[in-house]
Amino acid sequence: MSLQIEVLQSIEKDVDILATEILRPVDDDSNWQPTDLVPDPATDEGCAEIQTLKSQAAELSDRLVLVTVGNLITEEALPSYQTAFNRHVGVNDLTGVDDTPWARWSRAWTAEEKRHGVAMSLWARFSGRINMRAVEATTQHLIGNGFDVRTGSDPYELLVFTSFQENATLVSHKNVAQQAGHAGDRHLQKICSLVGTDEARHARFYKAAARLVFNADPDGALVAFASMMKKQVGMPAERMYDGSNANLFADFSEIAQQIGVYTSEKYIEIMELCNQYWNVEKLVPQSDDARKAQDFLASLPGRYRKLTERRRSREVPVSSFTWLMGTRGT
Ligand SMILES: [Fe+2]
Ligand SMILES: [Fe+2]
Repeated sequence: MSLQIEVLQSIEKDVDILATEILRPVDDDSNWQPTDLVPDPATDEGCAEIQTLKSQAAELSDRLVLVTVGNLITEEALPSYQTAFNRHVGVNDLTGVDDTPWARWSRAWTAEEKRHGVAMSLWARFSGRINMRAVEATTQHLIGNGFDVRTGSDPYELLVFTSFQENATLVSHKNVAQQAGHAGDRHLQKICSLVGTDEARHARFYKAAARLVFNADPDGALVAFASMMKKQVGMPAERMYDGSNANLFADFSEIAQQIGVYTSEKYIEIMELCNQYWNVEKLVPQSDDARKAQDFLASLPGRYRKLTERRRSREVPVSSFTWLMGTRGT
């Protein structure tokens, strides 16, 4: 048995405790479903509320709507993320109903995540701002194109990746919630705020699970963390396509950066957060490889910061997207 699998098995009890603490029971009153967050067209009050939702959404800037749609499509490609998770030996669910803490977590995590794309799509449909067919086609392309998680099926690298990504989505959804709130859109604010709170819980799980790995196998964890960072953390929606714009993901990211929903500075902050949380600089590695990994990780945020200082923004016209009503989308 490889050392990695041994380590992952040795921390299973703690992973189970962590998962129980972090997951929300489905039937708990505090648990939400997408239907709770949008008006019910079967009632008169619901129909009136749909008008309110539409008039609030009408006040949002095109660029905030575009970034919300990009986030929605990212959430909708969830099948790719569950598939990615299950490619990693040691945490994967071999039968689909495995009773290990890792397998139970991966299913419950997916089940919580499934609500995100649904809630955002319901809002998008009612908002009247979005060309839903173009959004759906983009999602279909994205899932079909796949996602390379770039971990080489290394389960330690997967825990680094998920720690980063859950933090990144937390930042992104919370910022959309805040900007929607400033623009007076209560529905979008609430949806993105609740989705962001889920991402925060998931980030807490992955960071804590990775910390258990750092405690049990510091050298292996350092090497895996450095390896993931050298390859750069993959962006789940990087292969999105709408049938016409070959630079769709780059254009979406550029707008997210410009309106401050998700920026390169945030990526560096997440790097620093992980360095601190996993005590990277205070560990005492035994092998040369792990010592090199530690030095690399400690210097990385500073190096990235220098690069972002040289970053030039570029103009991305709203007409590059098919996702909005009233532009190329209609
Ligand atoms: Fe999500
Ligand atoms: Fe997530």
